[in-house]
Amino acid sequence: MSPFLITRTLPEDTVGADLRADVLSGLTRTRKELPPKWFYDARGSELFEEITRLPEYYPTRAEREILLARAPEIAAAAGARTLVELGSGSSEKTRHLIDAMLPGLDSYVPVDVSESALTGAAEALTADLPGLRVHALVADFTRGLALPGTPGPRLVAFLGGTIGNLLPAERAVFLRSVRSLLAPGDGLLLGTDLVKDERTLVAAYDDEAGVTAEFNKNVLAVLARELGADVDPADFDHVAVWDPEREWVEMRLRARRALTVKIPELDLVVPFAAGEELRTEVSAKFRQAKVRGELAAAGLELTRWWTDEEGRYALSLATAR
Ligand code: AVJ
Repeated sequence: MSPFLITRTLPEDTVGADLRADVLSGLTRTRKELPPKWFYDARGSELFEEITRLPEYYPTRAEREILLARAPEIAAAAGARTLVELGSGSSEKTRHLIDAMLPGLDSYVPVDVSESALTGAAEALTADLPGLRVHALVADFTRGLALPGTPGPRLVAFLGGTIGNLLPAERAVFLRSVRSLLAPGDGLLLGTDLVKDERTLVAAYDDEAGVTAEFNKNVLAVLARELGADVDPADFDHVAVWDPEREWVEMRLRARRALTVKIPELDLVVPFAAGEELRTEVSAKFRQAKVRGELAAAGLELTRWWTDEEGRYALSLATAR
């Protein structure tokens, strides 16, 4: 088995400091909100895996369908020697793409905040594909990245529709920073969920079995464990709503009664009125024109567009200008 390299660019304590800063600013404003990244502790990641298997949650299956059907086309169009994957997690669905990119592929650079996910994926890949160099990066790609000096052309993949969790202004900054990692001719492979009927969209974020409700409430367990918050998940309802103007789904936690949440670690008491909502996630849905426009604004030209058979989800290939 060939060894893999792992580089850590996450200082040990940024997680604690970031969570404190996000909670302090997000829970003291008029319209309370928290960034969705705080869902994903071990339990939250497990719940998300469960969500991807729910009948109502189509994006993961739709994306896998496209990757399976189109991997050879994507590989040929990108012609890359290095594949960088942002938010790679277990690298499970990327495996189709990696297989299609071989033998031209020299290096795979998975980037994730979870070191355990990275080492697991890197071990499996290097065992299976001894010719592939794997250089894992433990990093928060929303904070600017330095890539290892692997050979070009490069393809950066950002799958799962996670770009939809960024607000429009954040997406612009993010796409600019991705562009700065690329040379002219390099590519970005971007997964986006698409605008569709409200019922389908809301059901995907408010499933019958209540798994998404538990996932949403898990952020409260993170606040309790990490910051000592005396919050009871049973005091909140899970809410998923479609905003037709902004074309995004919002997840919220709605207080079932007037209550206060004490957060001793921050010296903070947060009052909730009965019915008051805390926004925990935005999941933007796209049309081709919006994807094309946002890419163009970042110096990236949309060159290929693939959807699943039902047209629910898209993979875009963009080329750096
Ligand atoms: C995979 C992170 C994009 O927004 O659909 C699933 C996360 N939230 N159910 C999404 C999620 C609620 C998801 N992302």
